[in-house]
Amino acid sequence: MAKVKTSFYCQNCGAQYAKWQGQCSSCKQWNTIAEEVIQKEEKNSWKTTTENGSKKRAPKPVSIHEIQSENEFRMSTNNIEFNRVLGGGLVPGAVILLGGEPGIGKSTLLLQIALNLPFKTLYVSGEESQRQIKMRADRLQTSPNDCFILTETKTQHIFKQIEALEPDVLVIDSIQTLHSDYIESSAGSISQIKECTTELIKFAKETHTPVLLIGHITKDGNIAGPKILEHMVDTVLQFEGDRNHVYRILRSHKNRFGSTNELGIYEMQGAGLREVSNPSEILISKNDEYLSGTAISATVEGLRPLMIEIQALVSTAVYGTPQRSTTGFNAKRLNMLLAVLEKRAGFRLGAKDVFLNITGGISVDDPAIDLAVVGAILSSNEDIAIDRRVCFAAEVGLAGEIRPVTRVEQRIVEAEKLGFTTIIISGQNKIPEGNYQIEIKKVNKIEEVVSFLF
Ligand code: TYD
Ligand code: MG
Repeated sequence: MAKVKTSFYCQNCGAQYAKWQGQCSSCKQWNTIAEEVIQKEEKNSWKTTTENGSKKRAPKPVSIHEIQSENEFRMSTNNIEFNRVLGGGLVPGAVILLGGEPGIGKSTLLLQIALNLPFKTLYVSGEESQRQIKMRADRLQTSPNDCFILTETKTQHIFKQIEALEPDVLVIDSIQTLHSDYIESSAGSISQIKECTTELIKFAKETHTPVLLIGHITKDGNIAGPKILEHMVDTVLQFEGDRNHVYRILRSHKNRFGSTNELGIYEMQGAGLREVSNPSEILISKNDEYLSGTAISATVEGLRPLMIEIQALVSTAVYGTPQRSTTGFNAKRLNMLLAVLEKRAGFRLGAKDVFLNITGGISVDDPAIDLAVVGAILSSNEDIAIDRRVCFAAEVGLAGEIRPVTRVEQRIVEAEKLGFTTIIISGQNKIPEGNYQIEIKKVNKIEEVVSFLF
């Protein structure tokens, strides 16, 4: 047997050290370095040798002109949102990592996809028992196809079963529960995660089987394990949302086979995740009554237009220091917008509490939401409702100027489709020629918005 070799890994970022030290010099975290046993020996995890035992011939360089280009074959899943995020479906041999907070619905999403795949699928779970998975599958109310469940955590055993079953798609829940015989440290440690992922990638590439991995995330939102895990896989997806709300967003952070601009929206229901194909309609409350403090923004998330309702509450501060609280919106950005309103438009908001909420538990980064935030704050401050058929799409600058936004045409079309009568945009936004029913109101300064609205 080969000599047992140990190495020190930072449990936060995965940096490797020859000896222990208190602080990781790569990520600067304290007390994160731990010793892990790694055993160096000739591996035969997933067939590294050909049938007759000889090593495979190393590939030779080929001129780029000689390589045949062909359209990437996609294995379409029955889940339109998932296909969209992947860029059209699963690519044979692709390894996809899905991260997300505990309880957000990662297992539910992948089980639901596995149950609906028109291919033979093996769902390997190291987290739940077969009966638990069956119970969940029953809740999902799908007509099960060729889906097999395996509860196993040792990669060598998993590969043995794979060789017998020959599945077309492999799902692993989760990469942190797997362990390989070739590494001695415990499951979930950096070296185990790295080794198991390497073995699975090798399997995927050699058999052209797509592999879907579930990954846990750490408390600061990164996928647990070494950062290089994200470099190793082909696609990194993130499942986000507020656990107390029903909407979930599936985003792609990295995709070797498609755009990272796409996003999928789901609604968590009693019977699993429902695909939301028209998100704008559900995110806006169907309330005919005019309420002060709400404004609607025409945002674009990824490539999808999304109408989002913003609610603000401005009230006189009871305590000395006014409170500012936001959900789904950057608190610093709110403070900046309040300062602009105070300085450039003369609103005395410094002594008031301001609460801001983006409905549906979604968080938005699109700067085009600024003007709707300003609209909601002013509406609450003045206690005058904004017409619900008016929406906003513009950024607000520090000088109180209304700045143009990208994809304005897409926003206008979406607003028109949903029956809005007016959209307020920046005067500097060039609108492409078109026959719009919706009134397009161009503004250049906060004052113009105020005089238009109130
Ligand atoms: P789960 O997929 O176990 O989360 P993860 O794998 O990301 O940790 O999802 C857990 C939550 O989803 C759980 O709190 C219950 C909820 N849920 C539903 O609301 N409806 C359903 O049909 C299912 C299966 C789960
Ligand atoms: Mg799970």
